[in-house]
Amino acid sequence: MSHVVCPGSFDPPTRGHEDVFARAAALFDTVTVLVIVNPEKTGLFRPDERVEMLRAITAGLPNVLVDTATGLLVDYCATHEVTGIVKGVRGVVDLDYETQMAHMNRHLTGIETIFLPADPQVSFLSSTLVRQIATHGGDVSTLVHPHVADRLATRTAR
Ligand code: PNS
Repeated sequence: MSHVVCPGSFDPPTRGHEDVFARAAALFDTVTVLVIVNPEKTGLFRPDERVEMLRAITAGLPNVLVDTATGLLVDYCATHEVTGIVKGVRGVVDLDYETQMAHMNRHLTGIETIFLPADPQVSFLSSTLVRQIATHGGDVSTLVHPHVADRLATRTAR
């Protein structure tokens, strides 16, 4: 049985992330969307809030679970019988960085990473840009799920 993780910060999850989750869910038996918590970084949303948003936006995908982890991704994969890592790649900058991480993770435990090229319609999206736009009162309704847009509106209300 294939079990992959889609790891990330997801602060907040975007339509680009959703596209990767849906495509991974069609390819593998089980997909765990994994919020990796960096205790040194305070984000716009707490990890539990990111999990809540991710559960809401993946509710229609029965083989997708949501979890959180701290520490090394490969350690989570080893203890949860994960067979692969799925990453969306938006362009050459992502590919460069993601390739380095893929090689390192494979070097550490042998786990493979599968890259999915981002859908061109969402390949310009990033959580960082969504946060900036929302913080300055811009329209994010086409960039994130309505549930996430609501949470952003509440969090960034001035
Ligand atoms: O959404 P992001 O910030 O691009 O996600 C990066 C993330 C969290 C997937 C990456 O930093 C990660 O895997 N962190 C866990 C710590 C780890 O395993 N580091 C070694 C990577 S080779």
